[in-house]
Amino acid sequence: MKVIRTIADLRSELRDRLESGRGPVGLVPTMGYLHEGHASLMRKAREMSGTVVVSIFVNPIQFGPGEDYETYPRDESRDLALAGSEGVDVVFIPAVEEMYPQPTKTKITVAEITSLLCGASRPGHFDGVTTVVNKLFNIVKPDYAFFGMKDAQQVAVIEQMVRDLNMDVTIVPCPIIRESDGLALSSRNVYLKPEEREQALVLSGSLRTAQEAIRQGQATTAGEVRAHLRDYISRSPLADIEYAELLTFPELVPVEDSYRIVDEDRTVIMALAVRFGRTRLIDNALLQPK
Ligand code: PAJ
Repeated sequence: MKVIRTIADLRSELRDRLESGRGPVGLVPTMGYLHEGHASLMRKAREMSGTVVVSIFVNPIQFGPGEDYETYPRDESRDLALAGSEGVDVVFIPAVEEMYPQPTKTKITVAEITSLLCGASRPGHFDGVTTVVNKLFNIVKPDYAFFGMKDAQQVAVIEQMVRDLNMDVTIVPCPIIRESDGLALSSRNVYLKPEEREQALVLSGSLRTAQEAIRQGQATTAGEVRAHLRDYISRSPLADIEYAELLTFPELVPVEDSYRIVDEDRTVIMALAVRFGRTRLIDNALLQPK
């Protein structure tokens, strides 16, 4: 596995690999502190690509003032060991000065679907994401790029950008990987105090029980499902709900409370953001039409 830190070296390595027939190229963009969720993306990339590139870059422009850019967990040697064990070909770890030698004057903005859910409390966040992902696409020129459904809004926003700008890359969404007790894996889970970690199970628990309630006919409308999610999460005294929403996916149009889940043929996402102390957790589940 090659560890590359400059854009010029990465371009030359990829040129060599393509010339010797080791395409297609699969890219897994990450911010490091890698876990089994990231590993699942690398495995999918390995299945589909002759060359797997993982980028590790804590992207300053997607963090707002007062967010955790400085304290975002980092562990390069552990990340390299994990990528190595997944058969990754190239890890790209640029310094901030390599990606942003001067402040960027050009930004990619996807309108509308970035101003709700996580975009509402994190203004500018998705501009930072789409800008850096676009830069990575220009640098790596991947045939495939792999993203986790853990960040479902990010998937919707990137797919919209790729469609709108005719980018020549196929986005491959990958399923959410969870701890055995249901908590969705996240680099930020390390921030949770033991009591918060226990109560954080209300996210996955509320989604699972909502799906059961729908299956058993106890919840039939979007309003009933919203109420179920909120009631369930509110049982945890440490949980502070930022949103518990139902929207169509991937269009991200909020559905009315009267929307009858079982009768409609749209895919709906149940999307949650909940704060535990200073830690903000997100989770979601799709409701597929029958
Ligand atoms: P990061 O949070 O490191 O996540 C990198 C990728 O791993 C994302 O596509 C994310 O959805 C996926 N991922 C994280 N946890 C997962 C889980 N439990 N199951 C499945 N996939 C999971 O998302 C980012 O970085 C950044 O915004 C980035 C796209 C790299 C741009 O800076």
